[in-house]
Amino acid sequence: MMDLSRRVAEAADLVTVALDELLPRADGPESRLTEAMRYAALGPGKRLRTFFALETGRMFDLDERHVLRAACALECIHAYSLVHDDLPCMDDDDVRRGRPTVHKAYDEMTAVLAGDALQTCAFEILAHPDTHPDGGVRAELVVRLASAAGARGMVGGQMIDMLGVRDDLGGVARMQRLKTGALIACAFELPLALAHAQDGERHALMAFAHDLGLGYQIVDDLLDAQGDAGELGKAVGKDVARGKANFVTLLGIDAARERLELLRTQTKSHLDPFGPRAEFLRASVDFVLERRQ
Ligand code: IPE
Ligand code: IPE
Ligand code: MG
Ligand code: MG
Ligand code: MG
Repeated sequence: MMDLSRRVAEAADLVTVALDELLPRADGPESRLTEAMRYAALGPGKRLRTFFALETGRMFDLDERHVLRAACALECIHAYSLVHDDLPCMDDDDVRRGRPTVHKAYDEMTAVLAGDALQTCAFEILAHPDTHPDGGVRAELVVRLASAAGARGMVGGQMIDMLGVRDDLGGVARMQRLKTGALIACAFELPLALAHAQDGERHALMAFAHDLGLGYQIVDDLLDAQGDAGELGKAVGKDVARGKANFVTLLGIDAARERLELLRTQTKSHLDPFGPRAEFLRASVDFVLERRQ
């Protein structure tokens, strides 16, 4: 586990340095925007999506510079999703990653614009020739990230979440798949596209990503119910207070934990075809399921 924590920390350092290079800087009146973008994207996130992407890249012996740029794009989309998720018109949260949310540190209109510009920045990074010499591969990366982030992915899931139109487990599971699952799956899809992976490998990793994303959200819901706000760097008890249906509000804490235990073995078993090459991804399942922040 020690080795794994070090690898996660290394992935976080790599992507933060790379993002610092890639994010725009400005001197003019728009510097307020670029500062807010940097505040959102360079803050102390866990960078787990980057870790998944880099580990997948290593399994396929990819050029790390290409995978890292793909991870930067994904982190830009993730950061934008959090900035908008925290807005008063959405979850109305004041603290994120242990600091004031963007609309608190700046103001609402800056938060909206910083989210918008982080989103376009993601696609600018992917489409740049430094991400891959083959334009066809770059186009595939753009399509995969766009569909994971958009109406059939994260944004669609956020819509369902905000409408509150799911009061059964099937509805919550579908919402999760879109809201959180799609971007987590993208951390595997982008390196798979760079690797021209075979169908068998793609299917195995997608099944892994699906179960991992589900576990990730159940843990997020458990932490919202039982976690420590200081450790988490965000407020707790928000979902019950807002009357949101999630895995924990529907199942209860004990049944949600039982479900996670079933998922633990099932998730790891999808990696069997990769053997020892998937050692760190396999270990990351326990890391995700036991996380406290
Ligand atoms: C939080 O994502 C929102 C969810 C999708 C559950 P993370 O838990 O990955 O947040 P950071 O990036 O580490 O802050
Ligand atoms: C948000 O889910 C997932 C996103 C697409 C940003 P939550 O609203 O549960 O995330 P937290 O708990 O605020 O991090
Ligand atoms: Mg939300
Ligand atoms: Mg939220
Ligand atoms: Mg949550």
